[in-house]
Amino acid sequence: MNTPASTWPRCDLSLTWTALRGHFEAHGRDLDLREAFARDPARFDTFALQAPEVFADLSKNRWDLATRKLLLELARECGIEARRDGLLRGDPINHTEGRAVLHTALRAPKGETPPFDPVILADVHAVLDPLLAWVETQRARAARGEITDVVNIGIGGSDLGPQMVVPALDAYAQRGLKLHFVSNVDGHDIVPVLRQLDAHRTLFIVASKTFTTQETMANAQLARAWFLQHYGAGAEAAIADHFAATTTNVAAAARFGISTTFGFWDWVGGRYSLWSAIGLPIALAIGADNFRALLAGAHAMDRHFAEAPLEGNLPVQLGLLDVWYRNFHHAASRSIAPYHQGLRRLPAYLQQLEMESNGKSVDLDGEPLPFDTCPVVWGEAGTNGQHAYFQMLHQGTDAIPVEFIAVRQTHYGPEEHSAELRAALADQHHKLLANCLAQSQALMLGKTAAEAATEKAPTAAPDLPATTVARHRSFPGNRPSTTLVLDELSPRSLGALIALYEHRVFVSGALWRINSYDQWGVELGKALCNQLLPRFANGDTAGLDASTAGLLKRLGVVTGR
Ligand code: F6P
Repeated sequence: MNTPASTWPRCDLSLTWTALRGHFEAHGRDLDLREAFARDPARFDTFALQAPEVFADLSKNRWDLATRKLLLELARECGIEARRDGLLRGDPINHTEGRAVLHTALRAPKGETPPFDPVILADVHAVLDPLLAWVETQRARAARGEITDVVNIGIGGSDLGPQMVVPALDAYAQRGLKLHFVSNVDGHDIVPVLRQLDAHRTLFIVASKTFTTQETMANAQLARAWFLQHYGAGAEAAIADHFAATTTNVAAAARFGISTTFGFWDWVGGRYSLWSAIGLPIALAIGADNFRALLAGAHAMDRHFAEAPLEGNLPVQLGLLDVWYRNFHHAASRSIAPYHQGLRRLPAYLQQLEMESNGKSVDLDGEPLPFDTCPVVWGEAGTNGQHAYFQMLHQGTDAIPVEFIAVRQTHYGPEEHSAELRAALADQHHKLLANCLAQSQALMLGKTAAEAATEKAPTAAPDLPATTVARHRSFPGNRPSTTLVLDELSPRSLGALIALYEHRVFVSGALWRINSYDQWGVELGKALCNQLLPRFANGDTAGLDASTAGLLKRLGVVTGR
């Protein structure tokens, strides 16, 4: 059954929301994690959740059983199950663009009866199978040394997913094939990449859902010009072998002169598109079987989201915690700390996924929302973040929920190193994991000034009173965190992890009653940019506000040196 968007209830007007507000005032605001653990030795187990490939420790969050019960009631009262079913069935829930939101169809296997139109499933596999067959021919070319470099030209959702996944799955990547990502409309992005390339051994992928995005089109034209200049005789004809496109706008790719094009559909949102043809660079790096494993991991999470009761449903619980922190604790941001260098681009990927999806301030009917929505999502791989901004997480004035991601097994070691090196790498991995656990422990435990006063502080200034030093060295503690654990970072587990985040964004967006699948907020800047562009050539500042006019004059027309 298709339910019109505007019939969904306003969560903040529900009885449970009022009950949650009362619960927050009475118990939630002052819940002390240290006391909660002391009271309940089983707290870890109570708040542990195992989803496909992802284990979650939710026990260091500032909630208790009563909070969780109320949040689950809120989800039910706001129809989260029916709304989830509508998403998975392909209802046009992106109602401002009149589109379904069916990234889950991209990872649905053949042979299963899908909850959505089976024609869509046939269409998906009619692109996926030839795409992966083509991938294998290119990897064979790479194995023969005919292709050494792949350059993905795309931005936003046509860049961030592959750019995140490729290094994450480096252990699965074909050696001798180097992947590059060019996104910015800035010569400082593309030129250092082009400098490394041999035109005869390079494959360019122009990735753009619309095939109209300014940055991507400019970079694609530049790459084409570079290719024609550097290839030598027969360059025009060679474009067919050295350029491919991934887009919903196949006609525009053909006009650009690209004959190898893999299509997808308007019901795939840009930030949900790495499972579609946009994942081509991923498939080139890790091969067809591993790409299918990535899809299978995501599909396993889709089924968990669709079938697990809310009490054991990880995306639902994470989405509910997001609402709890944003609307009750008023946390304005959430920090992502993946303790795996391969996941270093995950925070940037999640920034688009979450902030482009839920960074909205009107509801489904366009009415202004009377509460806060998407927090700022930010972060950095651990342990690097510890040496940059963790100071603020521990002693700053804001209690920022942190999400740690830990991976049990490391991939580097077995065959390529000596026993001594393997031991050193294993030791490094223990150090990494110990750091990860220590940070969530420190955030929770903190340290009182009285405790700090009992410790030696050799680097403290000798003339400062001991009590002052102790106050500087104290930590408030009681700072919340979630730890997600993967057994290993594999195509399957990464697929599940990404799908977990996608569904969690759906849950919080649904509770906030916003359309998580449009992005009108990027339009104004694009339009104004197009209006400003000619002014850089003609210097005309007429009609501009004084600041923009002043800055335009100050910048002038800058030509390359
Ligand atoms: O920045 C807005 C946006 O439309 C994103 O949603 C999208 O991922 C990106 O631009 C790239 O768009 P395209 O794939 O059409 O080039």
